[in-house]
Amino acid sequence: MSEAFTVEAVEVEVVRPVRARLLRPGQPEDSVVYKSDAEESAHHFAAKAADGTVVGVGSLHFEDRRAGVEPFGTPGMRIRGMAVEDDWRGKGVGAGLLEAMLEVGREAGIQEAWANARSKNLGFYERSGFRAMSSEFELPGIGPHVVMCAMIKAKKGKPADVGDDAPEPEAD
Ligand SMILES: CC(C)(COP(=O)(O)OP(=O)(O)OC[C@H]1O[C@@H](n2cnc3c(N)ncnc32)[C@H](O)[C@@H]1OP(=O)(O)O)[C@@H](O)C(=O)NCCC(=O)NCCS
Repeated sequence: MSEAFTVEAVEVEVVRPVRARLLRPGQPEDSVVYKSDAEESAHHFAAKAADGTVVGVGSLHFEDRRAGVEPFGTPGMRIRGMAVEDDWRGKGVGAGLLEAMLEVGREAGIQEAWANARSKNLGFYERSGFRAMSSEFELPGIGPHVVMCAMIKAKKGKPADVGDDAPEPEAD
């Protein structure tokens, strides 16, 4: 049976506790403070259950992809920090978060969305139209990853403002 949830834009403080618990268990608090959180283009989304409990999170910022194979669709948008609470997985929460983030890209004139995805989650990204764009690589302390990418059909008249000083790539 499907359970109701909504997806909304939130402040970074809402997503960090979920990132910490689900993506960086046992790691120091600052491991969930991504450099990209400070980007002007950073957006954060939370999926909330009917009672307002946060059950999933995801973040994005505008950054061109530099790793993996061509074509590099620019301007690009990177998706990070995707995490859904255990007992909410498999209910469309992750897909709902991804869709909200892709919509930001469409509105902004972004051409491709990409992520350093954990290898075990390739199927999840593929279901939302992403394709593997690299061979598998290891991110220290986290495990095997693959660069996943989806081309975005931008809405007309929505050029993105992506600066030249994109941040260094970090982990997922
Ligand atoms: C990966 C994750 C975000 C997926 O969220 P979710 O809410 O369970 O995903 P959804 O229910 O929206 O799944 C959408 C589709 O992807 C499929 N899917 C989900 N996770 C998958 C996986 N790991 N492998 C293959 N397919 C997967 C679902 O079956 C569903 O398919 P359908 O469209 O045929 O029904 C979640 O499992 C999670 O938080 N995992 C732990 C943290 C993590 O690894 N984060 C991602 C870092 S890259």
